Amino acid sequence: MTDGPAGRPQLATDAHVKYIQSLNSRQDEYEYWLTEHLRLNGLYWGLASLFFMNRSEALPREETIAFVLSCQCANGGFAAAPGHDAHMLYTVSAVQILAMLDAFENLTAKNNGCEAVAQFIANLQNRTSGTFAGDEWGEEDTRFLYGALNALSLLGRLDLVDVDRAVEYVLACANFDGGYGVRPGAESHAGQVFTCLAALDVAGRIDLADADKVGRWLSERQVPNGGLNGRPEKKEDVCYSWWVLSSLTLVNRLHWIDRDALITFILSCQDPENGGFADRPGNMVDVWHTVYSLAGLSLLDYPGLELVHASYCMPKSTIAKIVGVPHRS
Ligand code: FPP
Ligand code: ZN
Repeated sequence: MTDGPAGRPQLATDAHVKYIQSLNSRQDEYEYWLTEHLRLNGLYWGLASLFFMNRSEALPREETIAFVLSCQCANGGFAAAPGHDAHMLYTVSAVQILAMLDAFENLTAKNNGCEAVAQFIANLQNRTSGTFAGDEWGEEDTRFLYGALNALSLLGRLDLVDVDRAVEYVLACANFDGGYGVRPGAESHAGQVFTCLAALDVAGRIDLADADKVGRWLSERQVPNGGLNGRPEKKEDVCYSWWVLSSLTLVNRLHWIDRDALITFILSCQDPENGGFADRPGNMVDVWHTVYSLAGLSLLDYPGLELVHASYCMPKSTIAKIVGVPHRS
């Protein structure tokens, strides 16, 4: 393994690309079937990783689009895999994949699927509270509110929902310690801080966040080995390199953490031979920790990576092309 400037390992880009390609060819392995409920999300994590490394051609575009479309259900939403039930989180992943591949036309061509997917998402808003459920069974969580605004803005259909009520709901999730929880009164957690700040940003109301207060809570997440935890007294985990750093970026406080120490920690979580990142050094790699490590490194301006948009976890270039331009359906 080559050492970088500060004597630390460098990003093993080729190994990471091979690792992601291998995930697509493990269909005969038992592990693949065990994770079927995550398939569409996994594809988003893998494809986004490739985009962040400027290697998007490493997965076959047409097959990827065909697989995504095969996951769309009659109600317009998307399931994890063909034949499963639709859910907000898979629907957001489907929209993000199609956006990165510049493939909304394929969706529109399929029974005007663009309109159907936007309606599926909009129908999950609780018009009284402003928040969103994940599916028709009704569990509510700021992850779904964020996902809804993310996907609807990509589709150019934020007009279908009550954005002001959603913003009010997010503000009610802010805690006295500066963080945000999964619903009003719930414990602050870095993942929920991301969903709340990113939702405010997509809604055009990041000005409503108390930047100093949330910035201080976020900067306190760095532990002595350079890694970040998700809440006080918890262990560090490399995926918080995304949840915490994107949040700090959204409130312009990225300089409140030690950049070099965090880069060293993130790189120590990679498997330089077989590719992929693990939550902590020496653990088993997975595609979730891989995408959020790469996205975190991009926010830290690690050389050679595509710039990532802090509220979408997608290439900035994709967001610049799509958002604000109503989709032609
Ligand atoms: C662990 O909680 C949870 C995570 C590492 C995920 C956090 C991210 C989110 C909630 C945002 C997800 C957003 C979308 C749109 C999918 P834990 O309580 O098990 O771990 P801890 O010990 O680190 O607190
Ligand atoms: Zn993690």
